[in-house]
Amino acid sequence: MRTQVGIIGAGPAGLLLSHLLHLRGISSVVLERRSREYVERRVRAGVLEQGTVDTLVEAGVGERMLREGLPHHGIELRYGGAGHRIAFEKLVPGRSITVYGQQEVVKDLIAARLAAGGDLRFEVEDVVVHDVDTEQPYLTFGDERLDCDIIAGCDGFHGVSRPSIPEGVLTIYERDYPFAWLGILARVAPSSEELIYARNERGFALHSMRTPAISRFYLQVPPDARLDDWPDERIWSELKARLETVPGFELATGEILERGITPMRSFVAEPMQYGRLYLAGDAAHIVPPTGAKGLNLAVADVRVLTEALAAYFKDGTTELLEAYSQTCLKRVWRAQHFSYWMTTLLHTFDEDDAYARRLQLSYLDYVTSSEAAATTLAENYVGLPF
Ligand code: APR
Ligand code: PHB
Repeated sequence: MRTQVGIIGAGPAGLLLSHLLHLRGISSVVLERRSREYVERRVRAGVLEQGTVDTLVEAGVGERMLREGLPHHGIELRYGGAGHRIAFEKLVPGRSITVYGQQEVVKDLIAARLAAGGDLRFEVEDVVVHDVDTEQPYLTFGDERLDCDIIAGCDGFHGVSRPSIPEGVLTIYERDYPFAWLGILARVAPSSEELIYARNERGFALHSMRTPAISRFYLQVPPDARLDDWPDERIWSELKARLETVPGFELATGEILERGITPMRSFVAEPMQYGRLYLAGDAAHIVPPTGAKGLNLAVADVRVLTEALAAYFKDGTTELLEAYSQTCLKRVWRAQHFSYWMTTLLHTFDEDDAYARRLQLSYLDYVTSSEAAATTLAENYVGLPF
């Protein structure tokens, strides 16, 4: 078998890349370890930046998102017994976010690829990357071989593409946080019209949503927390304790449909390329979910890679491909800082002394009272222009 671009991973990065390449007349094959059902059901974050929405719409895969996604023009920061709105419409006019689950984006992309006759292989075993430092790279899986001009590693943080790069090539930058997020999806109407980021002495809590009937919540928990420690009653009472801190706010509860614990990590591998292998999305970088940047960064990488590959396949020019990593890393590091900043602004750190807690509150007061500081949050949250 032969294709122009061999793509490992059918997450948002791999699927969108395959679709954008198709629109440019470039062939690809996507190899995914999991089943189609599994990737379509995997619950992840759900905040799309303006640029992500625009990208999906321009690529012709935004129809359902425009119909079912929830446009939001602000978020609330809740702490110290009060809520403070960050008003995007005032601070970053014309730019907003759309709440639409990542797995819905994945479903839409899979449907579009299949409708266009795209080659997606699910449940492939033992993908191995070969000879990316030559002009004839190839992938093997099961007992098949796929020859490619270029390989795109879109296989997430735990994939095979990044580890296939020889030792000494990559520089790794990382930070672990001393907590995790327990996330739930519940059958209950959201108790708020906008997302609530709550800073609380008991730990951070986030009230998000998916539809007018389904809410999404997260709780800061210890890094070694297990789901067994968190029966439904404990989850709801903790969410109430952390969110019902302003007069008149009552949290509605409902059936818990899904639950999971996510570690919090910041990670960047540089450069994002080696020979004919290009890394995109979580394969190259991870952010803690506080800033909701993971999916959006994957989309930004794939846009850059598509332009570079289009130039390469059109007339053989390699300038954009050579600059791929450098181009992406500017945005990646901005998002790294923003995600780290939002995380430290809103979480409770056990090691923090009283002085550190006062600094955190002072910074929150600044962000919620100064237009300059609020604009910093808002423009990063809705996403800087590409
Ligand atoms: N072979 C084939 N597929 C693999 C392999 C492998 N060895 N390892 C991982 N995969 C698949 C995973 O099953 C997954 O479907 O690669 C895909 C990677 O998808 P994501 O993890 O969703 O990563 P990405 O497409 O970069 O999207 C980034 O996803 O993790 C979230 O928060 C993150 O929102 C961000 C987004
Ligand atoms: C979500 O809805 O899943 C979500 C929202 C905002 C975040 C992270 C996750 O910062």
